[in-house]
Amino acid sequence: MNPKTQAARLALDYVKNNMILGLGSGSTAEIFIELLGIRVTGGLDIKGIPTSRRSAEVAIESGIELLSIEHADRIDLTVDGADEIGPDFALIKGGGGCLLREKIIANASDLMVVIADESKLVDTLGAFALPVEVDRFGFSITAKKVFDALRVGGTQRPAVVLREDKHSGKPFITDGGHYILDCACGAIPNPAKTAAKVCAVPGVIEHGLFIDLARVVIIGGEIGAEILER
Ligand code: A5P
Repeated sequence: MNPKTQAARLALDYVKNNMILGLGSGSTAEIFIELLGIRVTGGLDIKGIPTSRRSAEVAIESGIELLSIEHADRIDLTVDGADEIGPDFALIKGGGGCLLREKIIANASDLMVVIADESKLVDTLGAFALPVEVDRFGFSITAKKVFDALRVGGTQRPAVVLREDKHSGKPFITDGGHYILDCACGAIPNPAKTAAKVCAVPGVIEHGLFIDLARVVIIGGEIGAEILER
């Protein structure tokens, strides 16, 4: 079994009957959604709130009943992947461009469980370019201000580029209708300070630093998975 599947399978242990679940995005989260669908077919009664259109599609194909976030009075658990997992479970997310909805749903959940293979564990965040979701209006000015904010936040030589859609070559548009700036940082020595500085830039909708949200990380390997808790 591949490591992502090992992690996704162990995360099912956190799911209980009648839960409302945040359904993450990305390849690892999709495996979880598919496995969850098998449990639903077997009688598990849950409802899912997807963090992306793609996750909604996978959930529907897997037989999972969806709930609009506007109709949810609680979210018990969110299971999602990550691009990097650093000290204190600080994360970089948004490689798939879904960071805004992922963060809204993770922040509204009683528990966030992150599932990943061990390649995602890092000592310092930042080798993966930090995605920053921005309004389309004035995005090039916003990009310059994000660059400045990253410098003030402690990143030595950031490089900020507008994400392009791999197929069309046009700017990538998020589910919320925004652009993504991918910010190559090399290292983010102070994630909390960096998050605060980037957040303060007008035009920034959200950034991919998830700080103090994940309580459980499940790391999959070839022959099993390990649960890390804080
Ligand atoms: C989606 O926007 C991301 O936050 C994903 O959760 C992240 O990119 C992890 O994806 P994989 O599980 O495909 O590595």
